[in-house]
Amino acid sequence: MKRRLPPAYQGPLQPRQPGFGEPEVALSELSPNRVGYQLMEKIENRLQLLLLLNFICVAVVLFSLLRPVLVESGILGRSRLTNYLAKHQLDCPAKVDSIEATALNTTFFYSVQSDSCPLHIKGLAKQWPAYAKWTDEFFRECCSDAPVKVEHGRATRFANFLPEFSKKKMKFTAFLDEYTSKARIGTMYMPEHKLPAGLDKGDVPQPSFTSYMSPQSVKIWLGAGEYCSLPHTDYQENILVQLEGVKMVRMVEPTQRAWLYPGGRDTKASVHVPPHYSPVDFHEPDYFKFPLVKNVHFHDVNLEAGDALYIPSFWFHSIKSRPSMIHHDMGRRKSKVHMVNTTESNDMPHSKPNSVRNLAVNWWFPAPHAILDKIFEGLEDKKI
Ligand SMILES: *[C@@H]1O[C@H](CO)[C@@H](O)[C@H](O)[C@H]1NC(C)=O
Ligand SMILES: *[C@@H]1O[C@H](CO)[C@@H](O)[C@H](O)[C@H]1NC(C)=O
Repeated sequence: MKRRLPPAYQGPLQPRQPGFGEPEVALSELSPNRVGYQLMEKIENRLQLLLLLNFICVAVVLFSLLRPVLVESGILGRSRLTNYLAKHQLDCPAKVDSIEATALNTTFFYSVQSDSCPLHIKGLAKQWPAYAKWTDEFFRECCSDAPVKVEHGRATRFANFLPEFSKKKMKFTAFLDEYTSKARIGTMYMPEHKLPAGLDKGDVPQPSFTSYMSPQSVKIWLGAGEYCSLPHTDYQENILVQLEGVKMVRMVEPTQRAWLYPGGRDTKASVHVPPHYSPVDFHEPDYFKFPLVKNVHFHDVNLEAGDALYIPSFWFHSIKSRPSMIHHDMGRRKSKVHMVNTTESNDMPHSKPNSVRNLAVNWWFPAPHAILDKIFEGLEDKKI
């Protein structure tokens, strides 16, 4: 379309009309030199255009390459809140403190809890009745008919908001029949369940160093290993106690949540996770998809049978469950089996159906940290 100038306009920009000024000349009448010159000019214009496009492409590529660096260095994409949080790290040791359960007293635990730092408590459950007693055989004796709710699905990525999970009601005995079978490993899990009717709470006594707190509940986690929970935070204080099998726990302190894309998009599940979840795979972070995770300091603890872990409220954690490692669990398992069925005691432990068990309980306590509570409850609503 021709651009029409307003009629009043008579200025020098008015286009030349044929017949005025220089006459229009047909191309054929031009000298070869002139044609060459015009051609050169056209080519030059195109070259300039190409150069410009090239420049834009290079700039775009450079920017996308530099973006993570700019974001990391705080030039791009860091809000004041994020900067604030980056400067307000908790004063926790880089490597999680560990202590023998027998050496732990209330005073020491209280001080750790006041700092809101995790604590690895070794051998806590070794004195508990449940440690030797709670075999599958025992569960069948005490509580076969107790109703339980069981997760079915790709439990390798355990998170109850994921659409692929469904809960099924069944008798405890039906779960015990199935959960260690080859077809079920990794797909059937009894997470965070109240103690099935018939189990004695006295078998998992409240740890004495928590005596100044009143617990909210005690829960049981039973499966055949090969589970991983999606990273998330809990509102409550957590004492997680491993009775059988191994858990690899990765934790991130709450002030680093800005690097964890909370509420972000989990591409594997094609959902946005809730704000207290992170879509980052803590155990194998994708630094290309989530470059900010490079800023994160992971606190790792390998929980072995008998160990406990204090996970302070609002700390992100992702827990990978593994079956018992045969070498360190052999003695205990043999004696357990011996108690129940002497005819089986000569078998190798890993040939037992329950050798893949992963059993834990956890105590929930209300969060006492008024300050953290205030900061992080507010955070859930804010975009960082
Ligand atoms: C409590 O435990 C800490 C650390 O093990 C120790 O230094 C302290 O003396 C203990 N206090 C009491 C009262 O036993
Ligand atoms: C003990 O194990 C054997 C061999 O697996 C089995 O046949 C028997 O029924 C078991 N006995 C009890 C009391 O569970």
